[in-house]
Amino acid sequence: MDIRFLGHAAFELADAHTRLLLDPFLTGNPKAAATPDQLDPSVIMLTHGHGDHLGDTVEIAKRSGAPVVAVVELASEIAQSGVQTFDPNLGGTVNFGWGWVKLVPAWHTSKTPQGTVNTPAGLLIKFANKLIYHLGDTCLFSDMRLVSPPGEKIDVALVPIGGHYTMDRFDAVRAVELIDPSTVVPMHYNTFPLIEADADAFQADTQSKIDTRVIVLQPGETLQL
Ligand code: NI
Ligand code: MN
Repeated sequence: MDIRFLGHAAFELADAHTRLLLDPFLTGNPKAAATPDQLDPSVIMLTHGHGDHLGDTVEIAKRSGAPVVAVVELASEIAQSGVQTFDPNLGGTVNFGWGWVKLVPAWHTSKTPQGTVNTPAGLLIKFANKLIYHLGDTCLFSDMRLVSPPGEKIDVALVPIGGHYTMDRFDAVRAVELIDPSTVVPMHYNTFPLIEADADAFQADTQSKIDTRVIVLQPGETLQL
């Protein structure tokens, strides 16, 4: 399975058959590693409806026919564009032929550019026999330790480190300690001046304290699992 970083909080998870597109903010993203028309996802999944996560979702979904998974109020707004949606709430799991996605808590706020208030989430994804946890936009909170199912280890955690709108790189180290994943990929930093962060320092701090590996991906780079 490939995890391709598309810049900011956008990722594509892909195997030979299926492509999962997460938080596809490309238009207006100075770090975007793809244009909307270059992507042909099987499913789109959103952590929340802020513009830097909702992004090009509706355009990509309309062209590709991909359904969108998002928290119920956000899914309801998207469905008005004629896009097929799945609308779980926190704790809800949506099952697919390739695996499943579960909405888990994130501490943040959210309103779409159109004004729909929606509760932010993290995404726990089972795909290609791997567990991927996209934290979404969140601060540090102790219940992160509950996200991994009992006896299972998170394979890859996608962790915001930019500060200001999310946890910073120091709290992100503490988050990794709670989640205890095999691999960590930092995200949501250096897109704009307000969220500049030193990913190499985050990598060094994390790996000196916790038995995990931190992979710093540049936009467009792929982690192979
Ligand atoms: Ni946000
Ligand atoms: Mn954001």
